[in-house]
Amino acid sequence: MAQITYAGGSRRTADSERTTPQRVRPRIGGMDVQVVQVLRPRRVWLMLLVAVVASAVMVAPYALLDVGSSRLDVGGGLHYGLLVAHVFTATVALVLGPLQFVPAIRARRRWHRRVGRTYLLVGVLPAAVTAVPVALLSGRIVTQVGLVIPAVGWLVTAGLAVRAIRRGDVAAHRAWMTRNYALTFLAVTARILVPLVLLTGLAVGAIAPADAPTAATSLIPVGQVLGWMINLVVAEVLVRRARRFPTASRSGRAAPGPVPARP
Ligand code: HEM
Repeated sequence: MAQITYAGGSRRTADSERTTPQRVRPRIGGMDVQVVQVLRPRRVWLMLLVAVVASAVMVAPYALLDVGSSRLDVGGGLHYGLLVAHVFTATVALVLGPLQFVPAIRARRRWHRRVGRTYLLVGVLPAAVTAVPVALLSGRIVTQVGLVIPAVGWLVTAGLAVRAIRRGDVAAHRAWMTRNYALTFLAVTARILVPLVLLTGLAVGAIAPADAPTAATSLIPVGQVLGWMINLVVAEVLVRRARRFPTASRSGRAAPGPVPARP
C-alpha cells in the first residue's frame, strides 16, 4: 500500500489520505512507491490561496497596461514593457507552483509534468530573463545586486531540477524545485516584510511617524533581498527534513536512509 510520508515524519496510508484517492495511488515502474510530501496538504492549499490573492494584488496596477498606474517609476516604454512581461509571467509561476506540491497532482504524473513545464517555460524562464534588465534599469544598487542574484538562482535551480528528473533522481528534483519555488515566493515574502519592518521600526521608535512614507520606499529593496534569503533558509529546512525519509527514484529504487515509523 502506498504511503504518504510528511517531512515532519508522520505517515499515512493512501487510503486514509483524502487528497490522494486510491485510484491515483502513485506507481512508478509498476511498483507502489512512497510519496514524500515536503508540505502537508493543508499548508499547500494555504500557500495556493496566498499566492492567488497576492498575485491579484500585485498584477492589478499592470492589468490594463496603463503605464501611469505602474507602482514603479519606470522611465520609458522598454522598462515598462519588460516589467509588465515580468509581472505577468511571474504570476503564472507564483500560482502554478503550489499545485506541484498537491499530492493528487503529483500522483498524476502527466498532469504534474504539464503543470511543471508551464511553470518553468511560461513562468520562471521568461520572468527570470525579464527580471534581470528590470533590476538593472531600477538604478538602485541594492535592487540591481539583490534581485539579479535570485533571478539567476531561479534559472539555475530550474535547470538543476530538470537535469535531476531527466536522470531519474526524484529526491534531487523535489529539492531543487522546492528551492526554485522559494525564490518565486520572494515576491510575497518581500511584500509582507516591508510593512512588518516598518511597523516594528515605528513601534520601537526607530522610525518617526512623519518619516514613515520615505522609510517604506527605502525599505522595499531591503524587503526584496531579505525575502529570498529567508525563503531559501525555509526551503533548505524543508528539503533536509524530507531527506531524512525514503523516497523513490524513477527506477523504483528507494533512497537509503532510516525510516522512522510513527504510530
Ligand atoms: C526570483 C524571483 C523574482 C525576481 C528576481 C524578481 C525581480 C523583480 C525586479 C528586479 C523588479 C523591479 C524592482 C524595482 O525596480 O524596484 C520586480 C518587480 C515586480 N515583480 Fe518581481 N521578481 C521575482 C518574482 C516575482 C513574482 C513571483 C511576482 C508575482 C507576481 C513578481 C511580481 C512583481 C511585480 C508586481 C513587480 C512590480 C513592483 C510592484 O508593482 O510592486 N515578481 N521584480
